[in-house]
Amino acid sequence: MSDKKNTFYITTPIYYTSGHLHIGNSYTTVAADTMARYKRMCGYDVMMLTGTDEHGQKVERKAQEAGKTPEEFVDEIVADIKNIWEVLGIDYDKFIRTTDDYHVAAVQKIFQALYDKGEIYKSEYEGMYCSPCEAFWTQHQLVDGKCPDCGRPVEKAKEESYFFRLSKYQDKLIELLENNPDILQPAGRAAEMINNFLKPGLQDLCVSRTTIKWGISLPFDPKHIAYVWVDALSNYITALGYNSEDDSLMKKYWPADIHLVGKDIVRFHTIIWFAILMALDIELPKQVYGHGWLQMNGDKVSKSKASGAADIVDPIFLADHFGRDAIRYFLLREMPFGSDGEYTYDGLMTRINSDLANDLGNLVSRSAAMAVKYFDGKIPTARVAGEPDGDLLALIAETPKNAKPYMDSMSFSLALTEIFKLVSRANKYIDETAPWALAKDPAQTDRLATVMANLFEAIRVICNLLLPFMPDTCNKVLASFGASAVAWDACAEEGNLSGEICVTPCPVLFPRIDVKKEMAAVGLGEAEAPKPAKKEKKKKPAEPAPAAELAIEEFLNVDLSVAKVLECEAVENSEKLLKLKVSFGNEERQIVSGIAKSYAPADLVGHNVVVVKNLKPAVIFGLESFGMILASGQGENIHVLFADDSKPGDRIR
Ligand code: ME8
Ligand code: MG
Repeated sequence: MSDKKNTFYITTPIYYTSGHLHIGNSYTTVAADTMARYKRMCGYDVMMLTGTDEHGQKVERKAQEAGKTPEEFVDEIVADIKNIWEVLGIDYDKFIRTTDDYHVAAVQKIFQALYDKGEIYKSEYEGMYCSPCEAFWTQHQLVDGKCPDCGRPVEKAKEESYFFRLSKYQDKLIELLENNPDILQPAGRAAEMINNFLKPGLQDLCVSRTTIKWGISLPFDPKHIAYVWVDALSNYITALGYNSEDDSLMKKYWPADIHLVGKDIVRFHTIIWFAILMALDIELPKQVYGHGWLQMNGDKVSKSKASGAADIVDPIFLADHFGRDAIRYFLLREMPFGSDGEYTYDGLMTRINSDLANDLGNLVSRSAAMAVKYFDGKIPTARVAGEPDGDLLALIAETPKNAKPYMDSMSFSLALTEIFKLVSRANKYIDETAPWALAKDPAQTDRLATVMANLFEAIRVICNLLLPFMPDTCNKVLASFGASAVAWDACAEEGNLSGEICVTPCPVLFPRIDVKKEMAAVGLGEAEAPKPAKKEKKKKPAEPAPAAELAIEEFLNVDLSVAKVLECEAVENSEKLLKLKVSFGNEERQIVSGIAKSYAPADLVGHNVVVVKNLKPAVIFGLESFGMILASGQGENIHVLFADDSKPGDRIR
């Protein structure tokens, strides 16, 4: 066991240097940076690692096409990538390049150790290779004869190669994934690995090539170049000094707390990487988290899909145009972190306008303007409590606690939802207390001071909690009234506003964006007419169509599980919807359900219900919903299927 104490080691994948990054790639790194900032606020000694994956055939080819040496080629791309991280405010602790000398030396030692242990042997490789993905595939893994990951043609390869005894780890890996739900999150990815890759059978992995030059040569047979994925995955430990003279960082930070990766590379991280670590007798990371994709038209974002308007996926353009905090916020707010989400340029702008320009921006600018107008920027100490202070102050105290479990499980959009409830509450507080009316009555000066002080206390806590997401904006706002950042857990308790509060108006945080104009500017023509807030459609009760016959396997694809209702409330402005928090024993979720006409929240809390657990997450009435509650009937005659005799988490079949 390691002697890790209060440390937090989070990694991003190392990025390919064969081309330029887009907003989809930035997603992993923005998320990791936000998590790292959050953990620092919680008092952890954080190590955040990112870097570049520079070897392999594709780079070799691209460099040649560009008339450059591979070294010149990657140096330019690495400079670009570092610039993007700077522009997006990524505060990493270490940047590793797989071309760094210490990494190369350590990887050679890893290969030597595996070879000495008999984990690597020489044989002949015959198979299909996808060069853009740097992946070998067997015939039966190909889809229509093409690479199952990217759909591009594969090439036949036959050569002398070294093999890693991956097949030996098949059962151990199945057992590991089945018995340690935390080691691969979000839930669901483990079953995918087990059913699609592990159960069908693992083959030994070809880990060297002789036809490639640009890479790390094997110490025991130098004409062989290390398979790029083994080279790349090793970065997570070589960055900590594994196999070097000074491995103090390895002692301090390993095992990693989170390897954050996109879902496309979960397979490499939980099968190949875990097996290599097992072979080397190194403790496994605590968690691999496979986030979803940012998509365009249902497919992974890429430069080519931006068709003409390439700017809209360019992180530098976007950050220049809207500010990096707005982009960071959008990425983590728009879609539940574990799921895929659609990226559109107008969606991005609409989100910025509604949440940041309207809700947050207005709260801050109205409050500052009033402090200046009524008190010349100096809110006096005399205070008189009144209504509805208690309600606001209670939410101020609760919000850090409410958002914390979501931060801890990297459910960023849900954490933001909690924080923005306080933004809305504070905006409502302004309307309720009507400071402009209090200002007209000199007898109400102390009360007015109280209202203003409460508002700034709300803003102080909001900006503290939003710091990991939008560091520039929040620091600027906090500084504008003399507040400073405090630890997450302490931020509501130990208010650091005491006595007179001096407010200087801050510049507009998020200028309102003219969506139509911006769409036209990037050649996307007229923006769609702004969508009216979605109304619930009045549908006539219709007979459901007769259901088609299902094969048992098809039925088993539906995960019906028992969940206990922990909390339930009506959804504002909706007659039909209830918002529930349910627990499957080891996992909590939010579900929005159209059963309000038949059930009051109190009818449900404490009961067990049946949930379609693997339903694609949806946004209903602006609220995220992760699953569906089974019920019969319609309208006022809905009957929820209660399952009080079953245990939360149990699957129904
Ligand atoms: O895979 N949405 O590097 P990479 C969300 N070098 N995430 C996306 C995305 C999208 N549209 N497109 C890419 C590699 N990503 C390897 C990693 S680690 C030892 C080696 C994510 O540059 C992708 O899932 O192709 C991955 O997490 C990251 O960008 C880097 O991808
Ligand atoms: Mg990729």
